[in-house]
Amino acid sequence: MKVRYLVGCLAGLGLAAAAVSMPGEAPSGGTIVIKFSHVVAPDTPKGKAAEKFKELAEQITGGAVEVQVYPNSALYKDKEELEALQLGAVQMLAPSLAKFGALGVKEYEALDLPYIFPDYDALHKVTGGEVGQRLFATLEDKGIKGLAYWDNGFKIMSANKALTHPADYRGLKMRIQASKVSAAQMEALGALPQAMGFSDVYQALQSGLVDGAENTPSNIYTQKMHEVQGNLTITNHGYLGYAVIVNKAFWDQLPDDIRDQLEQAMKLATDFENQIAAKENADALAKIREAGTTKIHEPTEEERSEMIAALLPVHKQMAALIGQDTIDAIYQATGFQLTQ
Ligand code: LMR
Repeated sequence: MKVRYLVGCLAGLGLAAAAVSMPGEAPSGGTIVIKFSHVVAPDTPKGKAAEKFKELAEQITGGAVEVQVYPNSALYKDKEELEALQLGAVQMLAPSLAKFGALGVKEYEALDLPYIFPDYDALHKVTGGEVGQRLFATLEDKGIKGLAYWDNGFKIMSANKALTHPADYRGLKMRIQASKVSAAQMEALGALPQAMGFSDVYQALQSGLVDGAENTPSNIYTQKMHEVQGNLTITNHGYLGYAVIVNKAFWDQLPDDIRDQLEQAMKLATDFENQIAAKENADALAKIREAGTTKIHEPTEEERSEMIAALLPVHKQMAALIGQDTIDAIYQATGFQLTQ
């Protein structure tokens, strides 16, 4: 029988069990288990990359490490997973950048600001540069280590009515991730933001608890949200991506050679992730189109300008919360200029 590493032994026991699952006691010759929990479907950029990391980590460590991937909030939901990581009940997560505010690290919310990234290249200048490292450093005293940034894509808006102009959002209950910037953005449109965990969104849209949402095409398609949303607008108004994080105590006590091999696997999985994300989203949008359930609206230049004018004030409005220095560092890295 395989001797399993204590941290990995507690599948299904939840947070109560986590208190006794502190790392550091890998029996010699035992398998090191990494539980990797996430909230999206396996058939998404993040879901596929998690599987790729598992494959590479197990291969490169020659089976010394076993990665158990739990997709679709099967192990922990949004609200629980960061706490589970800090307690050591799970070793690896890849929450969206919008969800780090819950840890008290508000700087991450800069990455949620509307229209701050025109494309993936601009985003990579930030996540791959000094700001990305600076954001990771803010996690260390929370017992968390940042390993990589993984792409998803740009958010689009959905509802059961056409969303063409800012005024169309007025009074709509719009689901958001638990991000103050996303809340301010919906309020700037006159909508009523409703923060909610990802696993509850489909049902909330279906039952009418909320009227609409913002997400990437790959998340919308794989959760079948388009089946309960008659209209999508390709606003691309904000970015949704991830930070892959680990329990720092667990990571630090790994044998050096194993940690190096896992870093190598993570680098390869990250390259894979960031290569497939744009295509996964384009394919998902094409499948939504084919499904015929949903009208897809491409804004005209004029409509896009109206949305930009309505949403850019959120940058200044949120500067005190996020920290103007972080926002300025992003502007500097991307060349973004605030025109209002
Ligand atoms: C959401 O809650 O909409 C996203 O953060 C889900 C995800 O992990 O992509």
